[in-house]
Amino acid sequence: MPTAVSLFTGCGGSDAGLVSLGFNVLMANDILPYARDVYLHNHPETDYRLGSVADIKSFPKAELLVGCYPCQGFSQGGAREANRNINYLYLEFLRALQQIQPKAFIVENVSGMIRSTYRHLLDDQISKFSAAGKYGYHVRPAVMNAQDFGVAQERKRIIIVGIRKDLGVEYAFPYATHGEHGEKDLATIRDALDGLPDWPTGEFCEDPFHWYYMSRNRRRDWSETSKTIVSHMRHMPLHPMSPALRRIHTDKWVFESDEAARRFSYREAARLQGFGKQFSFPETDAASLAMKYRVVGNAVPPPLFKAVAGSLPDIWS
Ligand SMILES: C[S@@+](CC[C@H](N)C(=O)[O-])C[C@H]1O[C@@H](n2cnc3c(N)ncnc32)[C@H](O)[C@@H]1O
Repeated sequence: MPTAVSLFTGCGGSDAGLVSLGFNVLMANDILPYARDVYLHNHPETDYRLGSVADIKSFPKAELLVGCYPCQGFSQGGAREANRNINYLYLEFLRALQQIQPKAFIVENVSGMIRSTYRHLLDDQISKFSAAGKYGYHVRPAVMNAQDFGVAQERKRIIIVGIRKDLGVEYAFPYATHGEHGEKDLATIRDALDGLPDWPTGEFCEDPFHWYYMSRNRRRDWSETSKTIVSHMRHMPLHPMSPALRRIHTDKWVFESDEAARRFSYREAARLQGFGKQFSFPETDAASLAMKYRVVGNAVPPPLFKAVAGSLPDIWS
């Protein structure tokens, strides 16, 4: 079993992908107590360290290092400031990379990082990771869409993969398996929500749809992939049982009928992220509806991460 260390782990979307490939995740870390609770509920064998990554002085040796540092600065929804401290958490990832010198690493982040305002940060990551450790790494970035890999959601993310130079191989990103460029049809909202109740009271955000929510179309049909699942529950897309929306002004949409409308529940959001049916959410002291949505919306879709990690060459023996 190849070993992995996971940073900025959240509730473990990326790690669920790794575990399904047979990786042994030795250590995980995040600052969010509920992310830890969900992770350990589903993967009790991992040493999950709660607290800032900056406080971890020593990382265990592992063959793979993964990390999806936060992205507030880069995402469409966040405050777009290129120089906020949170944008420099990749230096903590770099510190772990220097110390562990794994055979390979994988980073995930929002695709906004390729926009010109942030390009200097992306270039800095690539150049620092390329030179890390005794041997350095062959580093490859690519923008990937989760729906191309069987996830019922449109979600574009940048993935950066590095392989240690002394191993003499380079990484090739996987080809799409679903949709226009793949052999299979896109997975739909209907496929993902199979077996879930129509009206799961208490599991979805019932806040009013304020003007900002109604400033764009938030609904897709059962036969489509979902819009991007976000971490703020108020911004969660609409469940397709909701009436269609019609645009009446530049930034103003209205429901076409008075029938009941609701957002996706956190459990539905987890399915649309590609978490398996058995993935569950414990009721701990840190649990709240907003937290459940948050850890789900932050996650990397497990099938996407599985496709990326599964395309690493056989460098483990
Ligand atoms: C994009 S999410 C990662 C999601 C995760 N990879 C998954 O698949 O579920 C980024 C995570 O970084 C965490 N984080 C932010 N600052 C941190 C810090 N200083 N130390 C450790 N974790 C931090 C956040 O709490 C959040 O869960």
